[in-house]
Amino acid sequence: MALSIHNLVNLPGKTTATLKDSTLLGVSLSDHRKVDFSSSASRSKLTLTKRKVLETQAVATTSTPAVTRVPSEGKKTLRKGTVIITGASSGLGLATAKALAETGKWHVIMACRDFLKAERAAKSAGISKDNYTVMHLDLASFDSVRQFVANFKQSGRPLDVLVCNAAVYQPTAQEPTFTADGIELSVGTNHLGHFLLSRLLLDDMKQSDYPSKRLIIVGSITGNTNTLAGNVPPKANLGDMRGLAGGLNGLNSSTMIDGDKFDGAKAYKDSKICNMLTMQEFHRRYHEETGITFASLYPGCIATTGLFREHIPLFRLLFPPFQKFITKGYVSEDESGKRLAQVVSDPSLTKSGVYWSWNKDSASFENQLSAEASDVSKARKVWEISEKLVGLA
Ligand SMILES: NC(=O)c1ccc[n+]([C@@H]2O[C@H](COP(=O)([O-])OP(=O)(O)OC[C@H]3O[C@@H](n4cnc5c(N)ncnc54)[C@H](OP(=O)(O)O)[C@@H]3O)[C@@H](O)[C@H]2O)c1
Repeated sequence: MALSIHNLVNLPGKTTATLKDSTLLGVSLSDHRKVDFSSSASRSKLTLTKRKVLETQAVATTSTPAVTRVPSEGKKTLRKGTVIITGASSGLGLATAKALAETGKWHVIMACRDFLKAERAAKSAGISKDNYTVMHLDLASFDSVRQFVANFKQSGRPLDVLVCNAAVYQPTAQEPTFTADGIELSVGTNHLGHFLLSRLLLDDMKQSDYPSKRLIIVGSITGNTNTLAGNVPPKANLGDMRGLAGGLNGLNSSTMIDGDKFDGAKAYKDSKICNMLTMQEFHRRYHEETGITFASLYPGCIATTGLFREHIPLFRLLFPPFQKFITKGYVSEDESGKRLAQVVSDPSLTKSGVYWSWNKDSASFENQLSAEASDVSKARKVWEISEKLVGLA
């Protein structure tokens, strides 16, 4: 009998997306065709007053970075690199912050929506205070993104690497929820929030004198329909993007990019296609001119992270052991953090426009994107619509 979590979670009620997403878990994914069944954060937002306080704290905790140069080394820059990681309060983001901070070569800006959670996470991960700063960023609000950028610029730090990592996933949501700007939450946060952030910080990266400047947007196998995992319904599909062009507001436009009815699992997958297309469009527009390396990656199936928090409890209980012992597609948070840290700093991963994956022996390789996730005209269209939605065009 095919062993599948599908059989175990076939419960009545609001589990449609969960069941659809769980069906193919019996497939061996150890050849890196792994499934990332994420669940998103449903959280209360900070009040404006609290946010102001946190932003003030964030600026106050920022100090001018130590720049250490060795005169006899000529152009060689030995200062610590500065990397911004969004969503560094848990999972992949936190593990990456830890891996980079531990080298002593990086100062990590943990760009997080919950300041106190991020501070506690950094402490419990044992990250030395000298190696990180928490700054408030809520990607589900364009105002917050702009405020974060203003705070960062005010800090006087250089920007060497930006990692767009944060994400929400709502696999069991029956109805859409919205960002502060009235945009469907998954695409609004995962894609548009990061799109605005990256565009506003590009100049800072251009000005960096760091030997290798990088902009990394975390992708996912689930957006890639050239894999088994990517073929688990509902499949990612941007269609003609009529919903995106209409602003994903659910009033005069659909909440889904393709104009169809709301599906939380699909909205996440669509947002991940946008992430991967955006990385490639950045590469085409800016790599030659700026020398910045633009990259995306699939870190592996990190079955224990908070991304799955909105899945039904039984799924959350069974998913990690299922990935560990049955599909063998499981990757620990520590290991995934080392992988993303490699994309941030490994001198051998400087190729731009690339989507990285890792094989069974945890060796990196350049992976193929699906036809849609590498479609040049779709990438341009996503870019052009997105810059209107975030107020840049
Ligand atoms: N887990 C997997 O198997 C897997 C596989 C492939 C790709 N990925 C990708 O890996 C990345 C990290 O996911 P994860 O698995 O580490 O999940 P996670 O532990 O839930 O981390 C997500 C992070 O995003 C933050 N976040 C959510 N909404 C935000 C907002 N509006 N503003 C700022 N930050 C926000 C969360 O903050 P809070 O701590 O405040 O909730 C959290 O720090 C995502 O891009 C995901 O698509 C994951």
